[in-house]
Amino acid sequence: MISEKIKDAVNKQINAEIYSSYLYLSMSAYFESINLKGFANWMKAQAQEEMVHAIKFYDYINERSGRVLLTAIEAPPKQWDSPLDVFEFTYKHEQKVTGLINDLVNLAISEADHATTNFLQWFVAEQVEEEASADEVVQKLKLAGERGSGLFMLDRELGQRVFTPPTATKQE
Ligand code: FEO
Repeated sequence: MISEKIKDAVNKQINAEIYSSYLYLSMSAYFESINLKGFANWMKAQAQEEMVHAIKFYDYINERSGRVLLTAIEAPPKQWDSPLDVFEFTYKHEQKVTGLINDLVNLAISEADHATTNFLQWFVAEQVEEEASADEVVQKLKLAGERGSGLFMLDRELGQRVFTPPTATKQE
């Protein structure tokens, strides 16, 4: 059984992960609108990954016999100034999410909830990757410039990203 406090905090995190998914899908739509199909593909895969994160939290509450309560998802921004603007926004957003995960870990530790502390370790590691992959594109955009052949090549590279659905096991 999960404590009320932890359950409420994890329910909130479901909302945050679905918001992230919504945000990245909005970024994908922005890239579609400026004909950068590879960037759009990368962001769509990112949006799908965020739904996987949301479902991991969803499954966890149910597994601990808590009640999942879904709440309204805020509308994401729709417009950005440039691809670099989008990826700088993404990097900052992921740093924010890392802060939320760290707050959850701190709460689980203060409640002596070892199962939740353990469960959250997957997300602690994932956030290192999430920040690194957003920052990598920021750095590439700065190097490649935002137009011409550099941007075209980066668009081709980001078009290679494939979303891999998780396997049936709950904790991988
Ligand atoms: Fe669910 Fe991008 O962290």
